[in-house]
Amino acid sequence: MTQPVTANNTLHPREGGGLRQPSATSPEAAASKVSSGAGAQVASIWPGLANPDGTRWHYLDTAATAQKPQVVIDAMTRALGSDYATVHRGVYARSADMTLAFECARRKVAGLIGGAENELVFTRGATEAINLVAQTWGQQNLKAGDRILISTLEHHANIVPWQMLRDRTGVDIDVCPLTEDGQIDLDAAQRMLTPAHKLVAFAHVSNVLGSVLDAPRAVALAHNVGAKILLDGCQSVARLTVDVKALDADFYVFSAHKLYGPTGIGALWVKADILDAMPPWQGGGAMIDKVTFERTTYAPAPQRFEAGTPAIVEAIGFGAAVDFVTAQGLPAIHAHECELVAKAREALGRMNSVKLFGPEDSAGILSFAIEGVHPHDLGTILDEEGVAIRAGHHCAQPLMAHLGVPATARASFGIYSDESDIAVLVRGIERTMRIFG
Ligand SMILES: Cc1ncc(COP(=O)(O)O)c(C=O)c1O
Repeated sequence: MTQPVTANNTLHPREGGGLRQPSATSPEAAASKVSSGAGAQVASIWPGLANPDGTRWHYLDTAATAQKPQVVIDAMTRALGSDYATVHRGVYARSADMTLAFECARRKVAGLIGGAENELVFTRGATEAINLVAQTWGQQNLKAGDRILISTLEHHANIVPWQMLRDRTGVDIDVCPLTEDGQIDLDAAQRMLTPAHKLVAFAHVSNVLGSVLDAPRAVALAHNVGAKILLDGCQSVARLTVDVKALDADFYVFSAHKLYGPTGIGALWVKADILDAMPPWQGGGAMIDKVTFERTTYAPAPQRFEAGTPAIVEAIGFGAAVDFVTAQGLPAIHAHECELVAKAREALGRMNSVKLFGPEDSAGILSFAIEGVHPHDLGTILDEEGVAIRAGHHCAQPLMAHLGVPATARASFGIYSDESDIAVLVRGIERTMRIFG
């Protein structure tokens, strides 16, 4: 990545990951304490990357959840402290200010993907966003005989809500296969899609394989047969520039916590005319126009889908995370992660018993398996080395079945990752292979 450090809330990834520390227990580790020199800069921007003893934690589980930059933590601390008040209902100045900040966060989050604020519903996360679509738009528009197309690599969040909808409405679900290198096979999708298909729901980037969907083609294929398309942007918004308008997507979902923001909040973007026609989901305060015991009328979107007091502080954090990522520049983040993935693929590819999954150009995510070593054992040994990877089915059990493994090991990168993370990972894998050798 070539972008320099700019404002005090931005960080060049190499500087952010500028420590060279092969092992948390090695002599080099002692010399590269996060609490000193370049390391102190890392810790001051990414407090989550510091071990309790001051060494750097080699965090390679960003696809599960990203570490938080200090600017996000600070924004949330202010929102929870000196700025704290409720939104939308207060008649006092603090509440009016908080309402402005909350709605400003909505505008920023929508703007990140090229959407408008009246099309952006805050949810608890991507999972809730997909459930919302299934239970409102799906329940209203789909019936027995209609079909939904998903793919083999979907996260459970983009499978189970559609199965629950199938149980309620009788719709059928088709599964688009993958190409040999683990991308959604859009030639197959083209052959499979029929006018009976009312929805296509695909991951924009796979959380296991890192494969990047050819989203413009997927949208065109869906629209050609009159289907709507939902893109699961959980793993794409922190690495790719997304423009839902240019894409002509219908639904786009993502979670703040994978975008360097807080847990407990996410986003559902829906094309305005579709959102306007969607019935309310949860009932309660904040989503109504007028309530009598006889009849209730509802607020316009997006408020109609946000019953109850919202996640105010989390929304502020979400907005701060969008600012942070935007200041870094998504093309630069993506380029940085691609470089790391290429280096990791090369280093792991040289090891005889390591099998790599996914395409060469995967985005920020690399899944692999070691012959004769369960990924959980690998994860435990790597943890001793000061490296955190993910081991398991990654909420994608059908994909594991397709790959013919119960689980994979997954290294996933972020803005703060650097080559020292790969060096320690490789050393840890070598040690594991010696132990199991
Ligand atoms: C591709 C993908 N979709 C959906 C989800 C669900 O996100 P959340 O648990 O934040 O709702 C994840 C989380 O791992 C994911 O990676």
